[in-house]
Amino acid sequence: MCLIPQDESAKKKSRVEGRRPPPLDIRSYKFHRKLGEGSGGKVMLASFAPKKQLVAIKIVPKKPNRCNYPWISMEAWLSKIARECPFLCHSHATFQSKAQAFFVLEYAGGGTLYRMISRKKNLPTKSIQFYTAEMVVALQFLHSNGIIHRDLKPDNILVDNDGHIKICDFGIAAAGMFAGWKIRGLAGTPGYRAPEMLSLEAYDAGADWWSLGVIMYEMATGRKPFVPSLDPAKEFLDMKLTKVDYPSHMSQEMLDLLPKLLEMDNNNRLGVNGNIREHQFFAGINWSELEKRTTQTPFKPKIQPADKLKEIKPGFCAETSEENKLEDFTYVDYNWNWQE
Ligand code: ADE
Repeated sequence: MCLIPQDESAKKKSRVEGRRPPPLDIRSYKFHRKLGEGSGGKVMLASFAPKKQLVAIKIVPKKPNRCNYPWISMEAWLSKIARECPFLCHSHATFQSKAQAFFVLEYAGGGTLYRMISRKKNLPTKSIQFYTAEMVVALQFLHSNGIIHRDLKPDNILVDNDGHIKICDFGIAAAGMFAGWKIRGLAGTPGYRAPEMLSLEAYDAGADWWSLGVIMYEMATGRKPFVPSLDPAKEFLDMKLTKVDYPSHMSQEMLDLLPKLLEMDNNNRLGVNGNIREHQFFAGINWSELEKRTTQTPFKPKIQPADKLKEIKPGFCAETSEENKLEDFTYVDYNWNWQE
């Protein structure tokens, strides 16, 4: 039997049942629909009820023996760093219940690049130039902070309510990757993984530049340059044997840039070797304007207001517990204007 002194048990009870500040209480949010499946958990469209403000909530179940706690903490830390870059998805708040960790993320209402590519097949060169340039800014920001994303793919690239890019999902990112550091381990998604990762060598930020090359190719053609496989050795072999098919409709600048990103030798890959911003493909981009988010976007999505969306009841547990607690997790971004 567990004997808890009377006053201790009362303290515990009030912590469990007491009302938390609205942004840190799952009961302050209305849920509308599932947006997708992220690394470690699902992402739901929700609204912060007091202000009818749309947000995306990533829900990560806490695993037994705390085995996914280091990943959850890493993602929380990265989502704080992300707010320094306009092309990374910011988190408004993070909090937890006994069973789940919640990430309240800014909602990007333009959908994913995956959906855009599936619908349009090939995007206009101007749009590819714009989206790629914003991704370049985001990647250079991450890399200069010693972070590699490791799972760049069109499903993780969102278009926000103004039509700008937001890279999301830092669930498998690697930190501490400053110049000269390399990491091992297969990560990411078939079709987007760099050859050095597939051949189980140590890799660095060059792996993200490879994925960017794959994404650009997909935006331009509606298909992938190499055959994805769950078997890394098979995928690697296909890369070694395939001569990439560059269609004749691609611009000369893109035809010059893509092989420099889809370069098998990561030491020679553009991004690692040379500044990609200087490539002719980006001629006409005013990088300082772009970084300020003042460049005109290819399109501006229409967003349905929160009160026009139907509500679903996913039934999360709001109860907290000292036993399964993630330390230093709970946080509200001071820039989030959540007060009524
Ligand atoms: N899918 C995953 N994360 C999302 C977000 N923050 N906004 C919109 N859709 C998403």
